[in-house]
Amino acid sequence: MDVDPQPGNASVVALFRRLTLGVYIIGVAAGSERDAFTASSVMQASYNPLVLCLAVNPEHAAYRLLRAGRSFTVSVLERGQLELARRFGTPAYAMDKMEGVVWRLGCRGAPILDAALGYFDCAVDTDIPAGDHRIVLGRVIDGKVLRPTGLPLPYADTNNMDNSAALFPASFESAG
Ligand SMILES: Cc1cc2nc3c(=O)[nH]c(=O)nc-3n(C[C@H](O)[C@H](O)[C@H](O)COP(=O)(O)O)c2cc1C
Repeated sequence: MDVDPQPGNASVVALFRRLTLGVYIIGVAAGSERDAFTASSVMQASYNPLVLCLAVNPEHAAYRLLRAGRSFTVSVLERGQLELARRFGTPAYAMDKMEGVVWRLGCRGAPILDAALGYFDCAVDTDIPAGDHRIVLGRVIDGKVLRPTGLPLPYADTNNMDNSAALFPASFESAG
């Protein structure tokens, strides 16, 4: 069961869970190495050129490959695909997440989930620090809708699967 381990921050957690986000599998590759991880912090940043923005924890194993390969794919999960979200939310050292899952490869070798609603293939333009994460901007170089009638999985449906409740403070920093 996913539980909130810090009751003191419940109102901050409740506030941030009102941001509407989806759930995506980010694929990365460098040489013959591949990895993929679940992410909710993905949004469109620009129309011309088309740019997606991703917030990634630089301590993830996948970040090293993202940085080396300078590309990433975004596979959009469908409503109900909670087990895929959980699987790819598991650290690469804990299990072979890629085993037994059907992939196609993006233009630069990053894996794309065959079961996704659709995908984006991005070339990294910018990678800047943002607190304990990095903001990575990727120019969209390819992409396709794979299941036109499917509905995207809302992040809210994952509850505390990412254990993020423990990361929120009990109150806000004062402005001064
Ligand atoms: C629903 C969900 C959303 C997540 N969102 C993000 C995110 O936006 N950015 C991020 O860096 N990690 C996010 N994570 C955590 C990573 O998926 C997780 O730490 C993963 O184990 C990293 O994989 P790696 O060890 O292969 O790099 C999320 C996890 C879950 C379950």
